[in-house]
Amino acid sequence: MPIRFGADYYPEYWPKERLSVDARLMREAGFNVVRIGEFAWKTFEPEEGRYDFAVFDEAIKVLRDHGIGVVLGTPTAAAPAWVEKKYPETNRVDRKGLRQHWGARQHSCYTNPKFRELSRNVVRAMAEHYADFPGVIGWQIDNELDLHHCYCEHCLKAFREWLQRRYGTPGALNAAWGMRFWGMEIGSFDEMLLPVTDYPSPSHVLDFYRFMSDEVVSYNREQVEIIKSFDSDIPITHNFMPGWGTVDYQALADTIDFVSEDIYPKDMTTFAHTDYQHALARGYNGGAGFWDMELQCGYITRRTLFPTPPPGQVRLWTHQAIAGGADGIVYFRWRSCLSGIEQFHSGIVNHDASPRTRAYREIKGIGAEIALFDRLGIAGSKVVSDAAILRGTEQKWAADTYRWASAYDYDEEVQRWYRGFFRASIGVDVIEPSVDFSRYKLVVAPLLHVVDGALVARLTEYVKSGGTLITSWRAGVYNPNAVVTAETLPGGLRHLFGVEIHDYDSLVELTPADPKPVVRFSAQTYSAGIWADCIECTTARPLADYTNSWYKPYAAITENRFGQGSAIYVGAAFPDEFYDNFVPALAKRCGVKPVLKTPIGVIGKLRVKDGRHFVFVLNYTTSPKTVVLRRPMRDVITGRKVRVRLRLPGRGVALLTEL
Ligand code: GLA
Repeated sequence: MPIRFGADYYPEYWPKERLSVDARLMREAGFNVVRIGEFAWKTFEPEEGRYDFAVFDEAIKVLRDHGIGVVLGTPTAAAPAWVEKKYPETNRVDRKGLRQHWGARQHSCYTNPKFRELSRNVVRAMAEHYADFPGVIGWQIDNELDLHHCYCEHCLKAFREWLQRRYGTPGALNAAWGMRFWGMEIGSFDEMLLPVTDYPSPSHVLDFYRFMSDEVVSYNREQVEIIKSFDSDIPITHNFMPGWGTVDYQALADTIDFVSEDIYPKDMTTFAHTDYQHALARGYNGGAGFWDMELQCGYITRRTLFPTPPPGQVRLWTHQAIAGGADGIVYFRWRSCLSGIEQFHSGIVNHDASPRTRAYREIKGIGAEIALFDRLGIAGSKVVSDAAILRGTEQKWAADTYRWASAYDYDEEVQRWYRGFFRASIGVDVIEPSVDFSRYKLVVAPLLHVVDGALVARLTEYVKSGGTLITSWRAGVYNPNAVVTAETLPGGLRHLFGVEIHDYDSLVELTPADPKPVVRFSAQTYSAGIWADCIECTTARPLADYTNSWYKPYAAITENRFGQGSAIYVGAAFPDEFYDNFVPALAKRCGVKPVLKTPIGVIGKLRVKDGRHFVFVLNYTTSPKTVVLRRPMRDVITGRKVRVRLRLPGRGVALLTEL
């Protein structure tokens, strides 16, 4: 199985005569796949019930003649103008009650029964036509599905029904949400509204997120089932936005065959964040083998134009994705479009379609390197990590429901820990807390503020059986309804961590006169930020205390030996230097080894197949770096043997394997 390599292609934008020229250029760059069709509803169904597949039939045939397979997108992210004209009620309504309109994309309500019916119709027609169609190697459902935040009458009705199924009676809902506050108890589900006010209850908002997510997942599943009913073996994916998207991606992943992600790193400074996104995609995918279905290949448009990636940057992003577990690389997009809001968003080739762009030449070079990887069978190899970070959608939602908490950003706290592993080249998986984590030697569950009995039991069992578990501040504060625990903090986790917390301080906004809490740990001093839990030990022992002001009597970091294992509580957020010291030291204690010993700015990542190691070494700085190897290895890209010292130029990449 080769690595899938190609671009997102929009044949419907260009004259027919261009097809074979594009296909030839793609082939010459080493492409074996393109994604097409995901916004072409109007082309596939020019008016309701009349289908026309000619443009795409031709494109798929020409591409196939050039050895390029097609991932076909269902086009439902861009409802055509006839939908608006006939069924304006299918458009989303915003929180202020304003209905959205046709004129761009992603304006339809996933809950609306008519929109569902129209989506099913076009998907069914396409699935029937393209079942076993030569050249179609997979499908992508819709595009970048996310919570739709629609406040229409259908969402209201469906939300009430969803609540009724969840709680049974209004009384049970009132109790679960704590609706005595401001006298908000409802007497019947008809009294429930969508959370449209400026100060909604966090419980109300959290359930609205869950409801929307369920709608998105069922919308996705509906399309998957239609396609599979015509072609049961065809692989189906969806393009996630890990780290940005707010839908329950694990639930979405469970409805498809493999996960894809869209990656726009923008600049060098986001290298660790991009790595985190790959780890998330890998986690949702249940391991390596996900695809980058859109990978940035040049300058991009958001609110403004972002700069053109310098030479070697796209290559580095590509190898970083493969190192993180990607088996498919698809660049966004083949050719810059002449019209539309993305007209100044780069393609691999520019508006004039000339292959003389730097991007085309660089990507052609990457294609040649990928051909080398294919000889080794990198696709299908695994990423094996002994450590995991638990990153929960429910945790993220709960953080977002609390209106005033915007500065304590859940994903940022998770990434403080991720960066500690990343910079030390220690492999780490990022998984949902619901996934089995018992096999890991080290588990970090940062900002674990939502807990229930089942999660506490699983964490307790993990530590009891010898695992090392870390959590950070604010642990155990919420139950799954975003209602605060009445127990002493950290609530249900008190016993496992052997601590009690009676005081804490929010450091998100500091008055200049206030001293920041300072922590002394391992002969270094760190200022705490964002939050400080004032920890009192019951059975735990302090690893670090606060050293100043009123924080002084309290512990900041504690460890509780529990059963065969250990439960560590880190009561505040710290600058990166803290995690650079803390994570590698703890990993070492747990027997979790780095892939390589790398200098700052270089990371090593490992993929494994049949016992054979593939070590990617990525220099994400602009200066040359040297890595000292433990044993001689071969660099697959240069073909050279590296005895001890591997020299990498700025933005350089090596793929090392056994001699
Ligand atoms: C998203 C979309 C693409 C395109 C790019 C532009 O990822 O999926 O269709 O709009 O952004 O960067």
